[in-house]
Amino acid sequence: MVKMDDIVSLCKRRGFIWQGSDVYGGMAGTWDFGPLGVSLKKKIMDAWWKYWVDDREDMYGVDAAIIMNPRTWIASGHTATFADPLVECGACHGRFRADKIADGISESVTTEEFKALNVKCPTCGKIEWGEIRKFNMMFQTHVGPVDDDSSIAYLRPETAQGIFTNYKNVVDTIYPDLPFGLAQQGKAFRNEISPRDFILRDRECSQMEIEYFVDPKTWEEHFEKLLKQQHEFLTDVMGLEPERIHDLEVEAEDRAHYSKRTVDIEFDYPNGREELMGLAYRTDFDLQNIQRESGKNMEYIVKGSTERFVPHVIEPSIGVERLFLAVLTSAYKEDEVNGEKRVYLCLSEDLAPYRFCVSPLLKNKPELVSKAKEVYDLLRKKYGNVTWDDSGNIGKRYRKQDEIGTPKCVVIDFDTLENDTVTVRDRDTTEQVRVKINEL
Ligand code: GAP
Repeated sequence: MVKMDDIVSLCKRRGFIWQGSDVYGGMAGTWDFGPLGVSLKKKIMDAWWKYWVDDREDMYGVDAAIIMNPRTWIASGHTATFADPLVECGACHGRFRADKIADGISESVTTEEFKALNVKCPTCGKIEWGEIRKFNMMFQTHVGPVDDDSSIAYLRPETAQGIFTNYKNVVDTIYPDLPFGLAQQGKAFRNEISPRDFILRDRECSQMEIEYFVDPKTWEEHFEKLLKQQHEFLTDVMGLEPERIHDLEVEAEDRAHYSKRTVDIEFDYPNGREELMGLAYRTDFDLQNIQRESGKNMEYIVKGSTERFVPHVIEPSIGVERLFLAVLTSAYKEDEVNGEKRVYLCLSEDLAPYRFCVSPLLKNKPELVSKAKEVYDLLRKKYGNVTWDDSGNIGKRYRKQDEIGTPKCVVIDFDTLENDTVTVRDRDTTEQVRVKINEL
């Protein structure tokens, strides 16, 4: 069973992910993606976009501003309710999310309930808790040169509101048939009390969200369909191990303020089971709020009829970092080759940062190097994401490419100069075959 430390160390060693602002001692809850991490993250996001938007006729994209008019967050309920239960230890003054340091309690826990549990402070071990207070997680900023109440704005805590606020623009411009979905990918910011578990709970994360607008009479049917499609996407496109994926029907008291039904799709991460994504029936909560706050009509007129209503919404929402970690957890494999432990990432060809690695068998033989460059250029033209490696010996190169998930290593040797064939070595089986260059 893969451990979180193995993944963190691989990510650091191979240039996938580093602590944000590492050089200055870090910035809690932020992470920087290095060359390989960016590549994998971008492929995950592109594969999501292809599956959910490009390959479907009922989905459209938007890309809204991160800083939105603050009325957005009053209408959505975030100003009033987007808060976690914060509790402070009277002895060491450590601050914690109450529902995360005691088992089996919900976000709406009261001070009395919490104190009755006799939870010890995770830092100093004492039991000297203060009152639980609600801590709003939105990051506040000021827009323009004046720092007063009238210039307060927020970094968006979810991408969803940038979709809802553009619903009317989309209907007025392209008037899609109902049901239709609007998709968005982008950064979201939450001032989490305790960021933790590597990239699982961050203060700055990326979300991929869809608001799927439906006739209210049909929401259940669409909910089930989207749930099934989520599973297909996670297993067939992302390669997640099905036995690590679990649906959790969220109880009414644990659901977000806007939801009438939520299924969380949880994943068995190395540190335990956690929410990977959510599927929520948001009813017409958001469009009704926008209608009230803006005074603009949010009704949809069914084409060819006089029927009109404010559509209801099903929302699949997933964090890129959580998906990234689930992809790595599923792909991380260990075995033994020639009596030595080997680590490899079993990523699909479409997700692996590099599809091929090209190497000359020996780097001090100019004829091998120039032939290898020819093959490298050929594959790069065809596939783009191909890497070159002439460091160390061939065994070390294979180990390195295995660790970053490169599916095939192509090696140019003396036979290549004779007959235009190369060795292609498979990451998963370590088997090698001879292939003609023009058949690569
Ligand atoms: N628009 C609905 C919404 O934002 P959410 O359950 O708060 O719902 C959706 O967030 C998804 O975004 C989560 O399932 C998770 O994948 C991701 N996410 C939320 N907060 C996160 C955080 N602090 N760090 C990393 N990912 C997060």
